[in-house]
Amino acid sequence: MENAKVVYVGLLGLGTVGSGVVKSLATNQEHIEQRTGFSVQVRRALVRDLHKPRRVSIHKDLLTILAQDILDDPSISVVVEVMGGVEPARTMIMSALKAGKHVITANKELLAKHGAELMEIAEEMHVRLLFEASVGGGIPIVRMVEAYLTANRIYAIQGILNGTCNYILTQMDERGSSFQAALQTAQELGYAEADPESDVQGFDAAYKLSILANMAFPVYTHLGDVERQGITDITPYDIAMAKSLHGVIKLIGRASYDHGRVSLEVGPRIISKDHSLAGVRDVFNAVTLTADVVGELTFIGRGAGELPTASAVIEDLMEILRAPRPYGMRLPMVASLSSHDEVRQHTEQQYYVRISSQISQQHDQVLDMLTRDGSFVRDAYVMPTRNGRTDDKKDILSLLICTTDRRKMLQKLASISFICELCIPFDGVWPEEREVIFSM
Ligand SMILES: NC(=O)c1ccc[n+]([C@@H]2O[C@H](COP(=O)([O-])OP(=O)(O)OC[C@H]3O[C@@H](n4cnc5c(N)ncnc54)[C@H](OP(=O)(O)O)[C@@H]3O)[C@@H](O)[C@H]2O)c1
Repeated sequence: MENAKVVYVGLLGLGTVGSGVVKSLATNQEHIEQRTGFSVQVRRALVRDLHKPRRVSIHKDLLTILAQDILDDPSISVVVEVMGGVEPARTMIMSALKAGKHVITANKELLAKHGAELMEIAEEMHVRLLFEASVGGGIPIVRMVEAYLTANRIYAIQGILNGTCNYILTQMDERGSSFQAALQTAQELGYAEADPESDVQGFDAAYKLSILANMAFPVYTHLGDVERQGITDITPYDIAMAKSLHGVIKLIGRASYDHGRVSLEVGPRIISKDHSLAGVRDVFNAVTLTADVVGELTFIGRGAGELPTASAVIEDLMEILRAPRPYGMRLPMVASLSSHDEVRQHTEQQYYVRISSQISQQHDQVLDMLTRDGSFVRDAYVMPTRNGRTDDKKDILSLLICTTDRRKMLQKLASISFICELCIPFDGVWPEEREVIFSM
């Protein structure tokens, strides 16, 4: 398009997401110019290795190993950080903001740890710091909270926030794979990193939940407030147990707000097969927001990958072209009132618990010991199938326990010679046919 104004972009990083950004800006250039009147051009891209083969065709003169080539270039008005990690990304973003450049980042770890500091600088400098790609890949959930639900009071967020874990759990559920085999397939398909710890231990989902909660709730929380559990201990046995309960295991992030109190948790849960998140398969992500005026809203889409993530980045670019000045969205200034534990003490929750012991015990003895002087246990149920001795002479038993105090319940199990191998919330319906039962 003739007469289109040129906007120069500097990329910090040209890996999976960076390449996707270059590709999609090229393929959609005309469309973007028609819609906005701007021609967006990549001026420079920072990499570590100038000689590495790239996933996208880019003139070699555009590549640099010097961040200053981007940060000190006055023609670059937007910096896109897609390199990952906390440093040097944090320092580079701060320099870019202080130089009056808008910044777009996909870096959830950095935002979850230092988002408030960076947002403050952006506000002082009257530039925009946008991060749609940091949560839910291509799902426009951040803008939804930031721009379209500002009059609503959001009080709950629930979602599948990590595509790698969702892929692994789907493989385990549908193909009967072990955790290790499913992880290996995920790595072969490029869905999991060579070092998968951040994904499978729940850190990645915790970063995203923390970012969303701080956008959605009127009080702020820290990353450390997220109670986190990974999926590495889930076995095909647990998947089979979940199925027998008409459920499915998913890594779920949940955040809720109530009168200044926030509860944040990420971990595997058994959800009922007819739950809206149960059918979200493979690498897909989904987020459900509950707000006072609009009610429940659910968004589903590809949570990672070159193009879905690039989509979020280039939509942030469009937002900057539309509204280059910040328009008032601020992080909350008041801290959340209480820790997660305090909130949880009073809440009754059902758990699926897999325990093992070297000593054989009768079911009714186990239940008796578990519930004796334990007012925190409301109900307990030994699952009728699949218990028995394993090759290493351990007794494996699966229980459903309804308790008001998870910590005390686990202490009690340890005190009666049981090793708790897995304890995850069970959100399904308590079975009607009970093999052995204790009820208050
Ligand atoms: N991949 C996804 O699907 C996805 C989805 C959502 C969010 N994100 C986030 O997006 C960010 C980028 O992810 P990615 O998958 O694109 O990473 P990646 O493929 O590893 O690419 C990182 C890029 O940054 C460059 N880089 C890293 N450290 C650098 C340094 N110190 N100095 C100069 N260049 C450096 C690398 O240079 P070389 O190429 O020369 O090594 C590479 O081009 C991360 O924050 C990630 O969490 C990714």
